Amino acid sequence: MKKNRTIWSNRLKGNSKNFQRIGSSIHVDKRLYKEDIFASIIHTKMLVKQKIIPKKDGLKIIKGLKKIEKEINKNKFKFKEQFEDIHLNIEKRLFQIIGESAGYLHTARSRNDQVVTDFKIWVKNSTYDIIEILNTLKKFILDKAEKNINTVMPGFTHLKNAQPVSFAHYLLAYVEMFSRDKKRFFNNILLIDECPLGSAALAGTSFKIDRSFTAKKLGFKKPTNNSIDSVSDRDFAIDFLSTAATCAMHLSRLAEDLIIFNSEAFGFVEFKDKVLTGSSIMPQKKNPDPAELIRGRTAINYGNLNSMLTIMKGLPISYYKDLQDDKELVFDSYDTLKDSLMMAIELMQNLNTKKNNMKNMAQKGYTTATDFADFLSIKKKLPFRKGYNISSKLVNYAEKKKIRLDQLSNGEINKFVKEVDVNIPKIFDVVNSMNSKTSYGGTSAKNVKKMIFKYKKEIK
Ligand code: ARG
Repeated sequence: MKKNRTIWSNRLKGNSKNFQRIGSSIHVDKRLYKEDIFASIIHTKMLVKQKIIPKKDGLKIIKGLKKIEKEINKNKFKFKEQFEDIHLNIEKRLFQIIGESAGYLHTARSRNDQVVTDFKIWVKNSTYDIIEILNTLKKFILDKAEKNINTVMPGFTHLKNAQPVSFAHYLLAYVEMFSRDKKRFFNNILLIDECPLGSAALAGTSFKIDRSFTAKKLGFKKPTNNSIDSVSDRDFAIDFLSTAATCAMHLSRLAEDLIIFNSEAFGFVEFKDKVLTGSSIMPQKKNPDPAELIRGRTAINYGNLNSMLTIMKGLPISYYKDLQDDKELVFDSYDTLKDSLMMAIELMQNLNTKKNNMKNMAQKGYTTATDFADFLSIKKKLPFRKGYNISSKLVNYAEKKKIRLDQLSNGEINKFVKEVDVNIPKIFDVVNSMNSKTSYGGTSAKNVKKMIFKYKKEIK
């Protein structure tokens, strides 16, 4: 085969320069070279085992492929746009290295099943990568939580002070989110685990191939059941993109919380310089850029998911060139999510809590008013709604007098509810309030300690 000819040069006289550039995907899919070579080696072994191709040619092919892998590893491989993609670049080079024996490689397969096989292997391995980084992030959040079990802060609803909570409890909410992401990524792997190789262009093949052998050797549970679905299915890419988008959304919420907490208005946390930038005009500034990048880049993860879903919508089944752009979207989402996870890990490592500010803020906004309503309901056996009404009147009174609830006297309280003996320092104390939330999943220090222990055990 002539050196610079395309595989289909007998039929086609060559492309325009523009189309060659636009139609080629080598700049993106060269990232699949390891998977492609791995799958080709296994495919060759299967062809030899089934006596479909001569053993001596099979051995030459495998040797040649390994040489190509080394060349690419060492940056010595010349990727050519005119050969379109990673599959044809490798096949072309194989011809140069071993000659006509290379012609046996593409027996009983097509690029359609080849690309989706490579891609599935890549997505599977990359999913495990992300799971590993998620674990590291969880570990660093847990370390921070462990140091802040007794750090009381106001929990917010509507960004209005609501009830005192432990900062550790707040952080553990994110551990829950990232644990769900981890499960989602694991679930995706269950669905990826079917090998498309051997589906050929779309119809299957008349060669007596052993698809179970190929599937097993490539690390899949089983071969796919339907050759048409095999080459047209990109659900696994959508699952990855969707899980990545959800995970990015969780990271973005964490980032947003940290940005708010780091503001002068809140002053709950501060970061070490390692994760801050300055301003070109305002000398005093220290800005939490990584958190803002995490928040902003969530848009990239959303966008890639949306693009992939849109590519698939209305695409007749089997292979169409539209599908070629799937890889760029998934690679980009993977890179973006990985960077965001790394940045989140660094934010956790470089975060300090300003405990006094948190506690002071927790004492504002009558955050223990619910505790008083609960107290009346539990101790005075009042219906909760009655206790709630009394407590709201107490808040109105304190607000008017411009004092906090813990500054009220028993005499003042007795104006609203007869004969109650309130241990004021206790009932209106924010730490006591936090620790009274002992229901399962609540914010008491005791609960939080147990939860941290449970999560740490799960990570190991
Ligand atoms: N580069 C192509 C892709 O990524 C490989 C499959 C090409 N198949 C074809 N029939 N043109 O989708």
